[in-house]
Order: sequence, then C-alpha cells, then structure tokens
Amino acid sequence: MIVPGSASQSLAAALAAETGEELASVVYDSFPDGELIAATPGFDADRAVIVASTISAGTHLEVLQLQDAVREAGAREVITVLPYMGYARQDDAHDPSGQERSGFPISARAVARALSVGTDRIITVNPHEQAVTTFFDVPAEALDAAPRLANPLPDDLIEPLFLAPDEGAIGLAGGVRDAYGGGQTDHFEKTRLSSDTVEIAPSDATAAERDIVVVDDIVATGSTMSESITHLADQGPERIFVACIHPVFAGEARTTLARAGVEAIVATDTIERSVTAVSVAPILADAL
Ligand code: R5P
Repeated sequence: MIVPGSASQSLAAALAAETGEELASVVYDSFPDGELIAATPGFDADRAVIVASTISAGTHLEVLQLQDAVREAGAREVITVLPYMGYARQDDAHDPSGQERSGFPISARAVARALSVGTDRIITVNPHEQAVTTFFDVPAEALDAAPRLANPLPDDLIEPLFLAPDEGAIGLAGGVRDAYGGGQTDHFEKTRLSSDTVEIAPSDATAAERDIVVVDDIVATGSTMSESITHLADQGPERIFVACIHPVFAGEARTTLARAGVEAIVATDTIERSVTAVSVAPILADAL
C-alpha cells in the first residue's frame, strides 16, 4: 500500500497508478496544543511504502508517525521514500554561512538516524551528496532523476549547452544532455559567500545564439541560478532554461529567476510546485 505524506500527495498517487498498489487514506490533523498527528485509519497491507518529502519540521515528524502507524496496523515491511530529503544539505557541521564550526550538528546524520528506526529501507532522489545515504542505519539508496528533466524541454533547442553552475552538478547536466539526445555540457565555478549569496566564475563556453539549459539539483533561494544566468545573458543567448530536480523555491526565488530572464523552469515532483513538469514516479516504481 502506498502511504502519502502531506507534501507528496500527487507523487504518491502517481506512484500508486504506476505500480498498481492501493493508495492509503491518511488523516493529517493537529491537537489543540498544536501537536501534529498523521494517521492511516484504514491501512491493511503487509507492505507499506511511505512517500513523503520532508520539506519542513512538521513533515519530518509526520514520517515518524506514519512509520509507527503502519507498523501498529500490521505492516511487516516498511519502505520509506524521501523524494526530497530535507536537511540533507547539512551533511557536515557548518553554520548557515557555510563556515565549518565546532558545536554545530551534522543535521543530515541526525535526521537519517531518526528516520531509520521505523523503516526497513530508505529510497531517496538526488540528495545533495550521495554519501548522505551512509548516514542511515538501514539499507538506503539514492536514485537519479536527471534524465527525467529532458522530457519537458522543447524538441527544437538550438545548439543546446547544458550547463552546471558548479562542479558538483556536472553529472546532472550530463544526465539531462544524454537523455535529451545531444548538445554540449560545461560548468561554472561557484563560491558560496553566505546562505543566499554566491559568486560565480564563468567558463570559456560560448552562449551566444544558443539555447542554454542550466541544470542543478536544487533551486532554493535562486541565487546560484540567477548569478549563472547573469553571466550567460551578457553573451546574448537565444533562450535560457532552468532545470532542477528539487524546486524548493524559498522566498522570492521565483521572482528572482523571472527577473533574470528565464524562458522556462522545469522541475520534478519531488517537491510539488507550479514548476513541476515531470514525475519521478516511474523511477521510484522501478526501484520498489
Ligand atoms: C548547492 O551546491 C546546490 O547544488 C545548489 O546549487 C544550491 O542548493 C542552490 O541554492 P540557491 O538556490 O539558494 O543558490
């Protein structure tokens, strides 16, 4: 049975359709003191597949409750799918400016340990660092959704350049390019100055009169993308597209990218947003 977290209801429904498994009914409620409760009153299956992006403190807690609820209801196997794993970017002890500091937690590890207690297996999608899977105390795997991002792009891209804003996203840019079926890849160099400020050093790749697809794992504040686009725009490209796996889109990110002159933004449904253009359900179904 597929059990949806409150932030992943469309994806869970798509996964149920893809696998033919039943979709559980879940109650999300709260008590008068503000404490949250997520429950699966009609759950009746041997296997529970909880599908829940942890995009907030409340949705983290919800996963713990759902894991417990399905066990109480008799599930013998619990698989927890974290399409977007919140706190995964805190994979070492650093403060919000990115400075490594003693006394700061490795939040990704703390969260992973807590989520391991009530499950037999974890599946996540493009965590910021693959190594985050080693923080779990149960078998954990990270799926790659980058090839899915090629599908919503126009078929008629002009001499496309698939560009990563930093070295860490080169594999993603290559994955989208390969799935698209042609084009060049390149990457910029990024230095993070604070949680919402980055400095980008451009590459030699020429953007003039070409369509550019800037590919990253996450758009959070949008500063990485907008800085990259500023450098590209100077060269007179045809169109600039943004492709990302996880559309966090915090604060003014959407406006920031619109003002930067982006033609279109394409993202997956690991976080359900208006820019979601493609589902990761097929790759999750394959992994189950
Ligand atoms: C970090 O290196 C990630 O790959 C993304 O580039 C980053 O999370 C994007 O964050 P923002 O949109 O705030 O620049």
